[in-house]
Amino acid sequence: MRVQYFCPRPARSDILMVFRIGLSGDTKRMEPRWLDELKRWLDAYTNRFFGQDEYVNRHLRLKQEHTDQTREQILYLAGRLALDENRTRIAETIALLHDVGRFPQFARYRTYNDLRSVNHCCLGVEVLHQERVLESLPPQEREWVRIAVAHHGRKALPPDLDDETLLYLKLIRDADKLDILRIVTEIYRRHKDDPQKNSFEIELPDEPRMTPEVVEAVLAGQLIDYKCLRTLNDIRLCQIGWVYDFNFVASLERLQACNWLDELFSYLPQGEQVQSLRRNVSDYIASRLTDLA
Ligand SMILES: [Fe+2]
Repeated sequence: MRVQYFCPRPARSDILMVFRIGLSGDTKRMEPRWLDELKRWLDAYTNRFFGQDEYVNRHLRLKQEHTDQTREQILYLAGRLALDENRTRIAETIALLHDVGRFPQFARYRTYNDLRSVNHCCLGVEVLHQERVLESLPPQEREWVRIAVAHHGRKALPPDLDDETLLYLKLIRDADKLDILRIVTEIYRRHKDDPQKNSFEIELPDEPRMTPEVVEAVLAGQLIDYKCLRTLNDIRLCQIGWVYDFNFVASLERLQACNWLDELFSYLPQGEQVQSLRRNVSDYIASRLTDLA
């Protein structure tokens, strides 16, 4: 079922970010047919990894769907930011290719955990290089795609990127997180309804405990190091903490409209601590949304 989203006018800070790089644009046109070719290539490439192992196939299908949905999220953001056609196409290309490394990663290691396998962003850049995927793109566009794929999964934005490169990186980081939140809430919901039937790839124990340093980091609005996670609830906390990492007000609006955070909170042990977390997070969102005034 497709969710209908409320689409208010753009927020001032989102628009200012785009104005800074200029609306006229000095980018070379990216031909629409290149995007179609890339879509065809990606379909063929990802289908190579399907085989006899249904566990692997299921996870690969999930990533194919995630790629489609991340494209939808990035197109929504591009629309809200009133990006021109060419920039929208570049953003869509980035969404299409951002997780290309996930396919060989899961087929080889049977995990999406970068710490236990390989960095899927670096692997993605390697695949694009080996398969000569970006060669038809103008050099600047190629570089924007490459940098966005390379850095989309980093804990924080890298320093020293120019405004336009940063814009694409911010777009994919927000679009990716939005869709991951859609996926994980759905997975947690199904798992709660029937844990036996709906098992999922999780390497941390599903127990009520929350690691104090993870709770404190979310309370303080700090990003969490994945190495600190000890339980499934820590993962949920970490996903809630992404709220502080969203770059665009439009992303927070979509997050609110979909109720994913409320659902994530509902899976945590209810008590004083989780109530303060909820208050902090909703105060933070409210303060960002006042930018709309
Ligand atoms: Fe992704």
